[in-house]
Amino acid sequence: MSHGPTELTYTADPARYENATFRRTGRSGLDLPAFSFGLWQKFGTDYPFETQREIIRHAFDLGITHFDNADRYGPPHRAAQQNFGRVLAKDLAPHRDELILSTKAGNPIGPSPYLKGGSRKSLLGSLDHSLRDLGVDYVDIFYHHSPDESTPLEETVSGLVSAVRSGKALYVGISNYLPDRAHAIAEELAAEGVPLLIHQPRYSIFDRRIEQNGLLETADRDGFGLIVYSPLAQGLLTDKYLEEIPDGARAVNSTFLRPDVIDDTYRQRARELNKLAESRGQSLAQLALQWVLRRPQVTSALIGASSTWQLDHNVAALDFPELTDDELALVDEHGVHGTGLGL
Ligand SMILES: NC(=O)c1ccc[n+]([C@@H]2O[C@H](COP(=O)([O-])OP(=O)(O)OC[C@H]3O[C@@H](n4cnc5c(N)ncnc54)[C@H](OP(=O)(O)O)[C@@H]3O)[C@@H](O)[C@H]2O)c1
Repeated sequence: MSHGPTELTYTADPARYENATFRRTGRSGLDLPAFSFGLWQKFGTDYPFETQREIIRHAFDLGITHFDNADRYGPPHRAAQQNFGRVLAKDLAPHRDELILSTKAGNPIGPSPYLKGGSRKSLLGSLDHSLRDLGVDYVDIFYHHSPDESTPLEETVSGLVSAVRSGKALYVGISNYLPDRAHAIAEELAAEGVPLLIHQPRYSIFDRRIEQNGLLETADRDGFGLIVYSPLAQGLLTDKYLEEIPDGARAVNSTFLRPDVIDDTYRQRARELNKLAESRGQSLAQLALQWVLRRPQVTSALIGASSTWQLDHNVAALDFPELTDDELALVDEHGVHGTGLGL
């Protein structure tokens, strides 16, 4: 542990597993919480550390045992996992065995050719650096962050396999791969005795690609789970942007969610979805999360949050009755693929 011993001041909620839901990841033996927590936004130097710490601790108290990181998350790159490492050292270290920690490599984090892509050099160098950032000996899941057509798949496979054989990762995953390449890497990994655990694609009411491109069927066939990111379309599938853009919201200061996507078309569709949610006695955010988790291939919904209130509110999504066929049809009518995504 590079973060050094610290006097612990946090006691985890003893009731944290009572209402938590876990789901099996594909055909592996690993269960993940229905909601996993990602540190992509507002976990760098741009948000107060004590707020980040409070959110991470609160997530764990809610039974969220899986925290998703990447070498890239910040700003600046690496800062999110360094901050997570500080919280781990201060608060969560006694619970390391209860945590599923992931990191990713491959999306560019600098001008060097070894700070991007899918080479052995990039993957294994990044993993070592991430272990130091997090202050841990191993991560539970190590991902290739995005496909790299310029590198032979065998080389990417050899990097992922080495991560597991060296004990620095327990499982491997991929993210943002299209179905054909996901199937190909799943086969190569299986031949090495290191099965592909999980795939991390984007999926929400406003992003239907995995329903259309065959990834759900590929996951079934190859036996990997799906952990879907941005299930709230970064906040577009909540009630926060139905009128104005509130101060402090992601659309105010993130390059990944620009205010110009919040237009009349978006508002009209989001308002109809909001009405549907209200008719079910829930919020749009809760409807959107329940909707992605209705699919058996989806192991976990990978959410972000900028407050403990959002976490409490969002994990309550599973307290509502399943969506009926009529309600699903209404979601399809108003949840038009590409809304707010600039697709
Ligand atoms: N593999 C990849 O390429 C990739 C790409 C992107 C993300 N990810 C992973 O997925 C994780 C989640 O992505 P995401 O943050 O885009 O997910 P998201 O759950 O779609 O969006 C989360 C954001 O929505 C807002 N929000 C959440 N609950 C709300 C509520 N009840 N009411 C109003 N606003 C609410 C918050 O933003 P504000 O309060 O700040 O507005 C929050 O940070 C990331 O942290 C990362 O781990 C992976």
